Amino acid sequence: MNYENLQTDFQDGILVVTINREKALNALNKQTMLEIRYLFEAHAPDLSGLKGVILTGAGQKAFVAGADIKEFTSLDAASAQAMSKNGQDIFFLIENFAKPVIAAVNGYALGAGCELAMACHMRIAGEKARFGQPEVNLGLIPGYGGTQRLTQLVGKAKSIELHLTADMIGAEEAHRLGLANYVVPLGEEVAKAKEIIEKIAPKAPIAVAKAIKAINDHFNEGKQAYRTEHQAFGALVETEDFKEGVGAFMEKRKADFKGQ
Ligand code: CAA
Repeated sequence: MNYENLQTDFQDGILVVTINREKALNALNKQTMLEIRYLFEAHAPDLSGLKGVILTGAGQKAFVAGADIKEFTSLDAASAQAMSKNGQDIFFLIENFAKPVIAAVNGYALGAGCELAMACHMRIAGEKARFGQPEVNLGLIPGYGGTQRLTQLVGKAKSIELHLTADMIGAEEAHRLGLANYVVPLGEEVAKAKEIIEKIAPKAPIAVAKAIKAINDHFNEGKQAYRTEHQAFGALVETEDFKEGVGAFMEKRKADFKGQ
């Protein structure tokens, strides 16, 4: 696929994806959502040696300022529900991606932009980042998983407050609430995300993927996720990586995982 609204840069095993609609503050229109789907379904899984994916926004002002409100005028109940379901499905692809996906939040992360950042496994907030779910200002609620993921990340009381007041919060507050993993100076978001991906890269890849799945299952399957955990634990001892990891510990050397 030729991307219109995504810019991709694959270097040293890290795919940096820039949402590139700066004039619209990188708002997610239909085309951009299609491209994000393709990226996580086909493009990224196809890259050999992929260590992880970083999502960021073009320019200095916004990560993503929401779904594209200019496309809302033709919506009716059925098409809006379908749009919401489609967005949820695309963001599940990100949440369940087998390699780490990190949002480098360089500015506004509002509405679907906050939802996109929350679908990623971690968030690095630049000091100018602003997070919020302002949909009630439009007579709406979030449609791409925001009511669920913000509640998971910051707890019910703060999530309700942020959804009902439409307040935006800055990077330090997002960090204090557990929404952002780190706050970094403006312009250093991608570098910090790369540092984390490089830290994960030498770990056993199948174990990394299964940890992501077991943690996600807590939120999507409730207590059944304990089953995901013990099944994954069992499956992992049959991998070559497990033998290598334990062997390396015994022999006091660094493990060399092959993802097998
Ligand atoms: N959709 C479409 N265009 C958008 C946009 C959006 N979400 N956000 C900003 N833009 C456009 C503006 O229309 C403007 O374009 P024009 O110059 O052509 O008019 C350009 O980006 C710059 O924006 P502003 O002039 O508004 O910039 P500002 O600095 O004055 O304000 C802002 C910045 C506070 C982020 C403001 O743009 C804003 O409030 N944007 C909307 C945020 C929002 O409500 N997001 C939620 C959308 S609904 C949603 O996402 C639902 C869902 O869950 C699926």
